[in-house]
Amino acid sequence: MKVGYRASMDNEQHIRITPRTDPVAPERLAEILADPGFGLHLTDHMFVAEWTPESGWHDARITAYAPISMDPATAVLHYAQEIFEGLKAYRHDDGSVWTFRPEENAARMVRSARRLALPELPEPDFVASVDALIRTDERWVPGAPGERSLYVRPFMFASESFLGVRPAKHVTYMVIASPAGSYFAKGVRPVSIWLSEEYARAGVGGTGAAKTGGNYASSLVAQQEASENGCDQVAFLDTVERKWVEELGGMNLYFVYDDGSIVTPPLSGTILEGITRASIIELCGKLGRRVVERRFSIDEWRDDVRSGRIVEVFACGTAAVVTPIGLLRWRGGEVSSGGPTGDQTGPVTHELRQALVDIQYGRAEDTFGWMHRVV
Ligand SMILES: Cc1ncc(COP(=O)(O)O)c(C=O)c1O
Repeated sequence: MKVGYRASMDNEQHIRITPRTDPVAPERLAEILADPGFGLHLTDHMFVAEWTPESGWHDARITAYAPISMDPATAVLHYAQEIFEGLKAYRHDDGSVWTFRPEENAARMVRSARRLALPELPEPDFVASVDALIRTDERWVPGAPGERSLYVRPFMFASESFLGVRPAKHVTYMVIASPAGSYFAKGVRPVSIWLSEEYARAGVGGTGAAKTGGNYASSLVAQQEASENGCDQVAFLDTVERKWVEELGGMNLYFVYDDGSIVTPPLSGTILEGITRASIIELCGKLGRRVVERRFSIDEWRDDVRSGRIVEVFACGTAAVVTPIGLLRWRGGEVSSGGPTGDQTGPVTHELRQALVDIQYGRAEDTFGWMHRVV
């Protein structure tokens, strides 16, 4: 593959920036940032680059955010050859703007690209594209109060128009961004989980470890079932024995035992290799807590919560950082890991969440070198 669009001495030299002439007015932007919600408002600009086998990555540009027009035969619309990433930009109290381990998102996007037969975007090009969009739309990065951020969504899709099942020879990579409010605006609140026994998310040899749209499309009906059963989110089991706990629709899982040990399901190839998950393992090492990556059965979840051996359950991911799990419900029963009423957050969950958030917002020393300065 040809070298990316990045110049070796200047990451952004090869990105053509055309500022929009009609950016959102300051008053309207202030209104949006006061209550951004999640994924509702998009910033003024977007990043775009193209790939062909002959030219490699080329034509990197930042332009006004706008709809893209597609031929009805565009391959992604039919065969779902698509991958994406998600990361956040955080404003620190001194006004600077930072991302959290963006090179890990870049590396995961390379792994996803391999699985989906898409071209690899070199890691420095990925980071340069994210940095360039954040710098261009810096005024969209919210500051204090609360855990607000700018959510950044890089994605890549088969943009060649043809009907036929083969890897596309024209691929488009884009980055868009959307301001995000505090995930827990009213304080951290445990969520309830529905166990999906009928549907699976990913099988051995499938695309479970890739961040590709199809995984999320196939999880929607299970998520609907969760809502119908009064639960916030859905948990999936493995497809072979229907016994091993994998992950939630959009987060990895952790179980805290009464002896202080912490268990998380292993990277089996069928779950997403969460960057928050990996960071928690490192953080626990520093805090003197032991994390065991091992297969963990649904019976252990039910029985060990019931017996009191599991004292906390939490989920983790970029959007919510660390989310306590108050309740596991399935057809015919439920167990609470959030105290008698399912609404309590345990001390380990709280400690890990706070430690991560403090690093992300620059309130604690970044001893791991996780933060990447953008502005
Ligand atoms: C299926 C799934 N698992 C886990 C995660 C958590 O990954 P990360 O911590 O990198 O956000 C996500 C979120 O991106 C996800 O979509």
